[in-house]
Amino acid sequence: MEVVINPVRTLRGDVQVPGDKSISHRAVMLGALAMGETEIENFLTGEDCLSTIRVAQSLGVDIKMDQNRVLVRGGGLDALREPGDVLDAGNSGTTMRMMAGILAGCPFFSVLTGDASLRCRPMRRVIQPLTAMGARIAARGGNAYAPMAISGGDLCAITYTSPVASAQVKSAVLLAGLFADGPTTVIEPARSRDHTERMLEYFGARVEVEDKRVTVWGRPDLRGRKVTVPGDMSSAVFLLVAGATVPGAELVVRNVGINPTRAGALDILVQMGADLQIFNERRVNGEPVGDIRVRGGRLTGAKIGGAIIPYLIDELPALAVAAALAEGETVVRDAAELRYKETDRIDAVVKLLGAMGANITGREDGFIVRGGRKLTGTVCDSFGDHRIAMAAAVAGLQARGTTRIKEADCVRISYPAFFDTLNLISVQ
Ligand code: S3P
Repeated sequence: MEVVINPVRTLRGDVQVPGDKSISHRAVMLGALAMGETEIENFLTGEDCLSTIRVAQSLGVDIKMDQNRVLVRGGGLDALREPGDVLDAGNSGTTMRMMAGILAGCPFFSVLTGDASLRCRPMRRVIQPLTAMGARIAARGGNAYAPMAISGGDLCAITYTSPVASAQVKSAVLLAGLFADGPTTVIEPARSRDHTERMLEYFGARVEVEDKRVTVWGRPDLRGRKVTVPGDMSSAVFLLVAGATVPGAELVVRNVGINPTRAGALDILVQMGADLQIFNERRVNGEPVGDIRVRGGRLTGAKIGGAIIPYLIDELPALAVAAALAEGETVVRDAAELRYKETDRIDAVVKLLGAMGANITGREDGFIVRGGRKLTGTVCDSFGDHRIAMAAAVAGLQARGTTRIKEADCVRISYPAFFDTLNLISVQ
């Protein structure tokens, strides 16, 4: 599907974004491993989280869904059953890597696969630690890529020093650690998002966090809980960048998860001069949540690198658009992980914004944008990546002429109603 974006006069609105993708996945997985009922509200009904539901159902978990309310009936750690067929994670890296951790702990055979994009994404990063815990895993390309076949069970607790700051890797090992006796520890080079730790604790596991080191104790009695999923910062950021850069704009985005390990983009936008305010701060099932007001103005470039990168990794396509519209230079470094997302996102943002007339250069671990040039609408490739499609749309709101986004329906992965919301807030 192609979507056409025309320039707007300004933006106005008071909106909500859909539920957080990372938290929605985790609520289903922990609900599946807990004893009793887990009721999930504001679940993200995007394709990725539906993949997690389907995989859990194939393992025998009773899951019912009514719009964005999901009911999971778990039978505890030992209730999962050998699936009768290959498990399909679709486009979702979180489903594949975190489910691999769970399956490593289960005493049966299973095979995980995914779509063409997911089958090109690195899996050795989970296969290695899970094998060290005792799972037998065979995967394509010399144990590097899905499909991967897992024979699980009989795991040993380990201390794993991860070479990458990846919440999916950390979570896979912690979930496998639930099936082992004793403490399993993951040490990261930089802290990644901590939703798994928070939710494990909320479901009754013993978890200890000390700087970049997380430990979970195995064989806990997890109890089903009610989980209310906050709005997804990674979806909100597209509206926030639009609101911060369109002259005269005023937007309120309500009920957004502002967990510090996810909110790096807010810090950078403020550093760039964005008029942002967070209010109504509250806590929902262990996660900080707030409402955010943004007003349009002039931004300046920023330096983005180091330990903040994992706190904004999914927001970099949106921040690249902000950088293209800002005065001065923005340098993004230490973000080589962007190359291993749904598409190579360094390549994709350089091609997208370059085609729209921005001065942007790719580097091995990031990109440099010399902002302030007027963008021009063109035919844009989304590369089948939801966040690239949304970045193109935000750039298109302020481009000269019309922007056409190819394969724009990939927004269904994380934000199915994105274009409807954009129409709703646009003032022509
Ligand atoms: C996620 C972790 C991040 C992020 C992805 C979701 C998660 O990936 O990019 O969109 O839910 O744990 P990595 O773990 O590969 O950094």
